[in-house]
Amino acid sequence: MDEPRIIVALDVSSTTQALSLASKLNPALCRLKVGKELFTAEGPAFLEKLMHHEFEIFLDLKFHDIPNTVANACKVAAGLGVWMINVHALGGRKMLLAAREALPNKSTKLIAVTLLTSMGNEDLRDIGINTSPQDTVKQLALLVNDCGLDGVVCSPLETNQLRQTIPNHFLLVTPGIRPSDGQLDDQQRVATPTQAIKNGSDYLVIGRPITQAGDPMLALQQISNDIKA
Ligand code: C5P
Repeated sequence: MDEPRIIVALDVSSTTQALSLASKLNPALCRLKVGKELFTAEGPAFLEKLMHHEFEIFLDLKFHDIPNTVANACKVAAGLGVWMINVHALGGRKMLLAAREALPNKSTKLIAVTLLTSMGNEDLRDIGINTSPQDTVKQLALLVNDCGLDGVVCSPLETNQLRQTIPNHFLLVTPGIRPSDGQLDDQQRVATPTQAIKNGSDYLVIGRPITQAGDPMLALQQISNDIKA
C-alpha cells in the first residue's frame, strides 16, 4: 500500500477529544499532527497513546531559539519516536545546521517553516525584511535545503515555484487544503487536495475538512481516493 500523504491536524485541546477523533480515523490513510496546544496540555504520554494505535506523528512545535537549545530540543523530540518534527527557518543557518546535526540517523524527518502564512508585506517591513513574502519563502527554502533538512512547510500556492528551484527529494508539506465543495473557514489562499498534489505537494496537512466532518473517516477516505486518482 502507498504511504499516506494526508496529515490530519488534531487541533483539539484534550486527550479525550483527540483520542475520540483518532479512533474514527485509519492510520493506513493518514498521519496525525500534534501542535503546541495539545502537546503542552498532554505531553509525551499522549503521543505514546496515539502511536500505540499505529499512527505516525508530526510533532509541530516549530522550535526557534539559539542553535544549542534547538539542537537539544530536536534530539529529545526525535527521541519520542515521532515521524516528523519542525523548526523555524528564520532561526538562521547556524540553528538549522545544529538541528540537522542533532539527528544524524535521519529516522525522524526534520522540516522547517519558511514564513508563517499569517505574515504579509507589512509584517515583513515591520521586522526589517524588504523582500516580498514569495521571494522570502524562496530564499528561506533554499537555505533550508542547503542545510540538509528534509523539507519545508509552505502554502500550496507556493509549491510550483519551489519545485522549479529545489530538487524533487525536498519535501513540501502544505496546509491550506480545502475540497472544492468545502468551507474556507479562516484560510485565505487554498488549493484542493488534487491541485496541491499536482502542484508538487508531498504531504497535505488537513484539519477541519476532516475533523469537523459528520463522518471523519468518510471525509478522509474521499480525499484519499481523490489524490490517488
Ligand atoms: O483546519 P485547517 O485545515 O485549516 O488546519 C490547518 C492546520 O495547518 C492547522 O493546524 C494550522 O495551524 C496549520 N497551519 C496552517 N497554515 C500554516 C501553517 C500551519 O494552516 N501556514
